[in-house]
Amino acid sequence: MPKLLLVNGPNLGILGRREPEVYGTDTLADIEGAVAAEIADRGWELVAVQRNCEGELIDHIQDNYDTVGAIVNPGALMIAGWSLRDALANYPRPWVEVHLSNVWAREAFRHDSVLAPLASGLIAGLGATGYVLAARALLTMVEG
Ligand code: DQA
Repeated sequence: MPKLLLVNGPNLGILGRREPEVYGTDTLADIEGAVAAEIADRGWELVAVQRNCEGELIDHIQDNYDTVGAIVNPGALMIAGWSLRDALANYPRPWVEVHLSNVWAREAFRHDSVLAPLASGLIAGLGATGYVLAARALLTMVEG
């Protein structure tokens, strides 16, 4: 069964009780369920990982080169996650960067992503819906 990789970085494991006015009230389990539902009709299975450590995220990316594509919310690693960037540079399939919040409407330190130039696309500011839209984009981008 084809598998889609969903990667969430630091502090995203506590969604639902993390600054809900910024990140919404959906938990990570809610988001994973919504993405899994979105890809189910195509016969894709979701492989979801959340880690607070950059190195562990890299391990999971390297272990999942056989996935059809990926959705990545790097959290604050977007700002200076150079090792994560290099891991994604070697990820062989299309991937979409997602941010729940509109990072450009926030503090200046959130305005640059070292990952975004490598992504097929980027969705920000649409909350949990952004992950579902990223899945939908990958469904159209990926054959099979
Ligand atoms: C985030 C935005 C980042 O700036 C922040 O560090 C996060 C979450 C988002 O989804 O809006 O952890 O990636």
